Amino acid sequence: MPKVSEIMESMEYGPAPEDASAVRDWLRERGSFGHFIAGRFTRPGETFATRDPSTGEELAQVTQGTARDIAKAVRAARRAQRGWAAMPGHDRARFLYAIARTIQKRERFLSVLETLDNGKPIRESRDIDVPLVVRHFYHHAGWAELLESEFPGHLALGVCGQIIPWNFPLLMLAWKVAPALAAGNTVVLKPAEYTPLTALAFAEICAHVGLPAGVVNIVTGDGETGAALVQAPVDKIAFTGSTEVGRGIARALAGSGKRLTLELGGKSPFVVMEDADLDAAVEGVVDSIWFNQGQVCCAGSRILVAESVASRFETLLRARMEKLRLGAPLDKSTDVGAIVDPVQKARILSILDRATAAGAELVGGDAAPGCFIAPGYLRNIAPANPGMIEEIFGPIATLSTFRTPDEAVELANNTRYGLAASVWSESATVATDLAARIKAGVVWVNCANTFDAAAPFGGVRDSGYGREGGREGMLDYLSVPVSAPRETAPAGIIPAEGQAIDRTVKLYIGGAQKRPDGGTSYAAQDELIPLGNRKDIRNAVEAAQSALAKWQGLGGHGRAQVLYFLAENLAQARAEFAGYASVDEVDAVIRRCFFYAGFADKYDGATVSARPGHLCHVQPEPHGVMGLIAPNAAPLAGFMSLVLPAIAMGNAVVAIPAQDRPMAALTLAKVLACSDVPGGVVNIVTGPRDALATALAAHDGVSAIWHAGQGEGVAEVQRTAADTLIPVWTPGPRDWGDLHAQGREFLRAASRTKTIWLPYGA
Ligand code: NAI
Repeated sequence: MPKVSEIMESMEYGPAPEDASAVRDWLRERGSFGHFIAGRFTRPGETFATRDPSTGEELAQVTQGTARDIAKAVRAARRAQRGWAAMPGHDRARFLYAIARTIQKRERFLSVLETLDNGKPIRESRDIDVPLVVRHFYHHAGWAELLESEFPGHLALGVCGQIIPWNFPLLMLAWKVAPALAAGNTVVLKPAEYTPLTALAFAEICAHVGLPAGVVNIVTGDGETGAALVQAPVDKIAFTGSTEVGRGIARALAGSGKRLTLELGGKSPFVVMEDADLDAAVEGVVDSIWFNQGQVCCAGSRILVAESVASRFETLLRARMEKLRLGAPLDKSTDVGAIVDPVQKARILSILDRATAAGAELVGGDAAPGCFIAPGYLRNIAPANPGMIEEIFGPIATLSTFRTPDEAVELANNTRYGLAASVWSESATVATDLAARIKAGVVWVNCANTFDAAAPFGGVRDSGYGREGGREGMLDYLSVPVSAPRETAPAGIIPAEGQAIDRTVKLYIGGAQKRPDGGTSYAAQDELIPLGNRKDIRNAVEAAQSALAKWQGLGGHGRAQVLYFLAENLAQARAEFAGYASVDEVDAVIRRCFFYAGFADKYDGATVSARPGHLCHVQPEPHGVMGLIAPNAAPLAGFMSLVLPAIAMGNAVVAIPAQDRPMAALTLAKVLACSDVPGGVVNIVTGPRDALATALAAHDGVSAIWHAGQGEGVAEVQRTAADTLIPVWTPGPRDWGDLHAQGREFLRAASRTKTIWLPYGA
């Protein structure tokens, strides 16, 4: 025992373990766990152990879910769904409220259980994870109550399959279950194999509050169980986990018609500008990459610091890092706990080995016996070093420098991922400029890893698509039903005789009429139509990319003016469409131009009520270059129903007109050319629809695709887009001339949100 005077000298903490006896009693009583299906626990089947990673001690046996278990759970969820959705919103709200209340009453128990199963410090599970879980259920009790008034005309999707990771087990469950239930869906949730216990405790809470049987079903197991859930007859899959598994799920779901949201990995930049408050920024690093042992998808794992302050920043960072306490997760003064599993520890160490072998220098980051790795960072690291590119998912950052704000943005965006970013500067203009230019779903200004149920969270590019939290998150669990005749599949391509080059009808790329690369045509509508190919798609995407800055620079008001002028010119050109589109169709398109001109400066963001003391702004942003595959029906109205909302939001598009009836779109090209629509904003490539659409889905420069067709063509595009992780929206068959083919649903699909956090503070 040290003397008091010695303690006063060193200011070392003594041990302060949290009492785990209640949790241990619970585990002993339960013994081993079955699944939670139709309101009851099943008898345990073939089981596996879940362990405390800090000691290796077995905590419980849980059941490895089979495809039959999944089928049973999905049936139970299906049986329960109609009644759950039909229940008045107020009644659903009361259940969500009861869940929130009960979790609140069991906060300590759940925090200890989470820490035992996952290895995260009790300070984090107690002060961050579980309070946020509670907040999520309260917030979504509110949405259940307000569903009818706030989302008129929207319906639940049905049964949702949800697959979650092990880094925030109960919090990820809350992010998935709360909005699904609020919207009237029922769920089958598969927790991660390393950390199933809080999900099973949550099942008991569902039973305790009397949630109708089958509304929440929990099936434990590994990736195979997850894969069985993906294959099961559910209406949506919501997945959080690795990019690799996310890609596989997107591929497996291609053509199934099931909805999909993916929250995947990240390699988020943490940018420290010259004028940053360096002490605050160092604390930001602690919250960013040394929080939860760095096992955080949005961890600020790439620290980029202005060269002029880099040395002072590193000195402060190192001093702070050395003070962090690595140790027993249940100790209340532990800062860094255990890595979730030996497999993950080995994975982290292997990346570090490769990073140092490639020349980086590791500061700290020592492996300790058991599942422990001390906090650290890699310095002198080249951009192509594996430590700079791969998601380490451990308590190790990279540290590199930049000279100018432009270089900071370039380095920040030099990644396939786009989940989050943290930006540190005392200048509002500098910070907001960076927040706007960094490609990420969430940007924290002068803060890091701040979350709230009202603040949408999710990524772009290899970090996935879809949002969780707030109004946006609710919309990912709802649909707006439309009924319309089925879409017609295009007929086969009829080669034009003699492969003549058409002299009058051409592709429209970069604001100019262009001959197709292959120099060939096909026959449609008694004309020789240019037969576009992959190269034409590439040219069109490049033209669209170069048009973006100018088009976005016009702002909503500027774009509205262009759309009004387009309407005026369409009215003048009515006669030119004769034979290609009906007068009604042309008139519908003129009205649609006015509609989206009206909306161009009105599809707003919102400052949401997240945390006190924070501005939390949710901003719709254009995707960038969009690929649009027009319906075969209604060749003008269908085409323009896609083009207009996309360009109104500031995207540039590569559009593939109806294969059998492309003349309306090609006639339109002439109107576009004289309507102040800058060259490259709308590009039109005619030819074999499915091949061209697949070329778009394979192109890295395309950020979103809308496919208005059906069948195998859509499936192929979705399979291809699974690799590039380009989101594909299928508006489905519509009456393209009527009001179902326009509105907020289209504007939402033409944009994605960026959530920007800005804490107040003088
Ligand atoms: P993972 O992606 O394999 O696991 C996440 C969840 O997906 C688990 O519930 C797992 O059982 C399930 N799963 C695995 N294979 C599946 C399949 N084929 N079909 C359906 N579900 C499947 O992640 P893992 O292997 O645990 O971790 C590997 C790396 O992934 C980490 O080191 C980290 O880089 C990244 N990761 C990222 C997360 C994030 O929050 N973005 C969370 C977990 C891991």
